[in-house]
Amino acid sequence: MKIVVIGTGYVGLPHAAVLSEYGHEVYAYDIDATRIAAYQTGQASEIERYVNEPGLADVVSENLGRYLFFTTDIANVVEDTDAFFLCINTPPNRDGSTDISFYLDAINHLGGLLSKRENKQRVVLVNKSTVPIGTARLLETVMKEHGVENFGVASNPEFLAQGNAVEGSRRPDRVVIGADGEDDFKILRRLYSQFVNHVRIRYLETTPETAEAIKYISNTLLLTYISFWNGVGARLAEAMPNIRMEDLKIGVTADARISTWGSYVSNGAGGSCFGKDIQSLIYQLNHAGRSTDLLQAVYNINEYQKTYIIDRAIHEAGFKFNQKSVALLGLSFKKRTNDMRDSAALRVVESLLSRGVSEIRAYDPLAMIEAQRNWFNPEKNYLFERITYHDSAVEAIQGSDALYISTDWEEFRGLSRTIKTTVAPPYLVMDGRRMLPDFDMLVDAGFDYLPVGGPMAHGRGRESMAGQDNGRDIVAALTNDLLRKAPA
Ligand code: NAD
Ligand code: UGA
Repeated sequence: MKIVVIGTGYVGLPHAAVLSEYGHEVYAYDIDATRIAAYQTGQASEIERYVNEPGLADVVSENLGRYLFFTTDIANVVEDTDAFFLCINTPPNRDGSTDISFYLDAINHLGGLLSKRENKQRVVLVNKSTVPIGTARLLETVMKEHGVENFGVASNPEFLAQGNAVEGSRRPDRVVIGADGEDDFKILRRLYSQFVNHVRIRYLETTPETAEAIKYISNTLLLTYISFWNGVGARLAEAMPNIRMEDLKIGVTADARISTWGSYVSNGAGGSCFGKDIQSLIYQLNHAGRSTDLLQAVYNINEYQKTYIIDRAIHEAGFKFNQKSVALLGLSFKKRTNDMRDSAALRVVESLLSRGVSEIRAYDPLAMIEAQRNWFNPEKNYLFERITYHDSAVEAIQGSDALYISTDWEEFRGLSRTIKTTVAPPYLVMDGRRMLPDFDMLVDAGFDYLPVGGPMAHGRGRESMAGQDNGRDIVAALTNDLLRKAPA
């Protein structure tokens, strides 16, 4: 089949590449000419400057010029195309609603081209972008206004997670197709023939509006799991002594009805979608006159979580950030990506700078260029001059007064020894990802350790300087309360 993918970012490029693996003739189109030129080279280093996903560059180079073609002009390919996939960015507006201006530009352009078709074969226009409920209907209206004939619209939301884009596209857990009639379902069944009747993949055909809603409910439910663990599980283990976070997770999620996903407590969930999609769903429900208390709480808990450890450092460790040098390990929103959209590190940097730190010594295995190019440009904010970039974790830690671990890169797991041999107490380690299972070694050597999902551990010999042990105080208070209320 002949397919055009419009928008070649984190969703569009893997989608186009994997479709081409199944022998479809795929044209991947983008308005960003430099991006297209990079993809056309077929070289990993060029492709990964835009989308850095395991295995993706190989799939692109293997199919380039055979089944996969990159272009900045689709005027010549629209004629006998079977399906167009819209994979355009849909960022949030200030009020939380979805900015569909890029999407509208794309569909108006497409409508103009399709209205001039000579061949009137059935064509399906498919929304893969996450778009508000009702957008497939809007797409239909726009095409009719352009005078396009014999077309159908569909919603086919994308559920892949970054870092797993190729595998997620090859073997999704489900394929959701929302369309209006058999003609369009049939075209998409042919296109996705590898998934139809698959023993493990759920292939669901439904209405466009249901498909759009499935995407929003999925992302907000996932964020709700994370916020529950961050806002309730982690809080308990932080406040009370002797609660082991990892055991708590195992004990609770052993119940098959309770998701294990989301129980990894963190300094907040980032990424391009969770924050924007929950805000958009809040907006859509409010607009429909419905209450959104739960969603609002989930959103607030997640935002607060991104800088919560810094507040704890001040109140529980008595740390004064003013004029201190802080090493920041991890800039991307999660491991195995250079994507920094909505990353906790953005809020951490903002918070540290506002507290007067003299230097932020940053290191990330993949996202350093991304950080300098797109997020921390000193021309936009002179305070970003205080960020220095380092080639390794150990180099970033050298000469610092405190350390903040923001991303769950595997290489940070073994850092306790490095910290111990590189810097000396008094020194505070803030662990936003519970990356140091052997932190006892640090505490024994006098380092203060403050993890998400665990109580503040004062370095040996420094307890007296820290004052009372809050956790033990709280348990004593609870025990007294129980005794007071117990029947005589
Ligand atoms: P992205 O910003 O990485 O890519 C979007 C691409 O669209 C860019 O290359 C941009 O140049 C291009 N574009 C913009 N306007 C265009 C136009 N008029 N014509 C042609 N190309 C145009 O975005 P993304 O992360 O791929 O997300 C795309 C959509 O998929 C969003 O709605 C997002 O919510 C959704 N989604 C993303 C993920 C993810 O992991 N990133 C997962 C599921 C769903
Ligand atoms: C997420 C969803 O997992 C995908 O299903 C969805 O398609 C995608 O959003 C989207 O719509 O864009 P992604 O943002 O790539 O995928 O990453 P996740 O692996 O879900 O992680 C998101 C954030 O949550 C990261 O910051 C991660 O570190 C954090 N997280 C995840 C936790 O803090 N705890 C967890 O237990 C899991």
